[in-house]
Amino acid sequence: MSHLIAPSLLAADFLHLQRMIELVNQSAGDWLHFDVMDGHFVPNISFGFPVLKAIKPISAKPIDVHLMIERPELYLEAFRDAGANVLTVHVEACKHLDRTVRRIQELGMKAGVALNPATPIEAIAHILPVVDVVLLMSVNPGFGGQSFLSYVLDKSLKLKRIIQENGYRSLIEIDGGIDEKTGPLALNHGVDVLVAGSYIFKHPTPLEAAKHLKSLQPNPQWV
Ligand code: DX5
Ligand code: ZN
Repeated sequence: MSHLIAPSLLAADFLHLQRMIELVNQSAGDWLHFDVMDGHFVPNISFGFPVLKAIKPISAKPIDVHLMIERPELYLEAFRDAGANVLTVHVEACKHLDRTVRRIQELGMKAGVALNPATPIEAIAHILPVVDVVLLMSVNPGFGGQSFLSYVLDKSLKLKRIIQENGYRSLIEIDGGIDEKTGPLALNHGVDVLVAGSYIFKHPTPLEAAKHLKSLQPNPQWV
């Protein structure tokens, strides 16, 4: 499978939201990445249900919702009803991760688990066999436009090996600081899904930026 691209709406021009969704529809992006922040789990507040509901009918791409919120288990059904296709919770925010992951899947969504940069992959060892997506944060979550933390590549490579050796189905998604330089590094370390906010939306030609990320050829040193 070729890698996937997930343009992150956080970096888009909110004054022209419809145009931004149409741009993603036309782009080489595979998923639309939607960052929800609550001002508690991360020191920032973004957008939530009303915005997701508004964009859902016009989005041609599956919506990849990244919850950077405390107590995500309280809102799983509401995010499904608002239009999430992939729903990702942070391991650091879940008291009952197994229950939360299974509930997301029962609700008919793909279940993702996100890890902050400093959280070791061992934190999800036991849930890995059932998780659809592991999201590795390559910046500290909360803001777009930050610099890529390259030590996350080591986590990605280790995770890829575990997934391959055990025949698990989880995709590895990376989020934060992805551009034309860090994208290839991530792909060479086993990443399957590149999230990109600033690189795509702040680019003079966002369609070209998305196409470029999609056309990257990994040099799979992990196989
Ligand atoms: C950060 C968010 C990211 C953000 C990435 O907490 O989870 O999805 O939009 O933005 P860039 O690509 O600009 O680092
Ligand atoms: Zn995100």
